[in-house]
Amino acid sequence: MLQVNRLGKTYTRGKQANVVLDDISFGVPDGQFVAILGPSGGGKSTLLRCLAGLMESTSGSVTIGGKIVRGAPKEMVCVFQEYSRSLFPWRRLLGNVTYPIETSVPKKVAAQRAHEMIATVGLDGFAAHYPWELSGGMQQRAAIARALVTEPKYLLMDEPFGALDAQTRIQLEDTLLEIWTKSPRTVIFVTHDIDEAIYLSDRVIVLGARPSRVMEDVMIDLPRPRNQITTKEDRRFADYRRSLFDLIMVPQQPANQSLPPARAAE
Ligand SMILES: Nc1ncnc2c1ncn2[C@@H]1O[C@H](COP(=O)(O)OP(=O)(O)OP(=O)(O)O)[C@@H](O)[C@H]1O
Ligand SMILES: [Mg+2]
Repeated sequence: MLQVNRLGKTYTRGKQANVVLDDISFGVPDGQFVAILGPSGGGKSTLLRCLAGLMESTSGSVTIGGKIVRGAPKEMVCVFQEYSRSLFPWRRLLGNVTYPIETSVPKKVAAQRAHEMIATVGLDGFAAHYPWELSGGMQQRAAIARALVTEPKYLLMDEPFGALDAQTRIQLEDTLLEIWTKSPRTVIFVTHDIDEAIYLSDRVIVLGARPSRVMEDVMIDLPRPRNQITTKEDRRFADYRRSLFDLIMVPQQPANQSLPPARAAE
């Protein structure tokens, strides 16, 4: 179980303080697929970096199995949006994917595991290619293979498909779901795309505008395996979409404008 306890983060610049995360708490049971949804600039990446131990929070804590996380935990890996900067351009695909395990397992085993992961993400036949010989979608597949080769318990993803075209994005969503279904692990997937959040996850945690708080925590009761057509045609999908859209759009109002009645009543 991953637990976020009253997490807060304030960036300071000289005398200026930017309160980004304000008192965020939630728990994630092992194996759950959670989407973190929120407006741009709301603090999603900041939250993910604090979860991954890449950044210290100002207050609160993150615990795994009751133990406070300090630094980057071994069982956690991150995949970021900027795939072009995440791979080593001087290494072939195979060398990129073996990288995280090459000092911990024998060379042959590392190569075998990397080849398996390369096949799993649909890049069979490209092991000898350099990253710059791969398309954007293929590079992001490579980044996912490299993240998963360590068999992490927690996969943290920060808008991993945000820079891809719509069709590639849809294909990668389905690849990710296939991989997760075969070996379920906790996934925390940051996105500002409402449809993507609902389609992929068991649960959507909605963050508000800065300073962010958990505005809503929604369980997604849609059958699996999911399908890009039938899942999105499901009436419940449309219902989730509508209610999440209302939530996400409200914080975008200027601060001096009064909230619409539905929110003001809360
Ligand atoms: N390293 C940093 N130092 C100072 N301020 C930062 C830093 N990283 C982010 N911020 C500030 O924190 C706020 C939230 O940024 P963050 O990147 O976490 O938002 P986000 O929800 O991921 O946005 P987006 O959807 O655009 O990726 C912004 O005001 C940003 O300027
Ligand atoms: Mg971000």
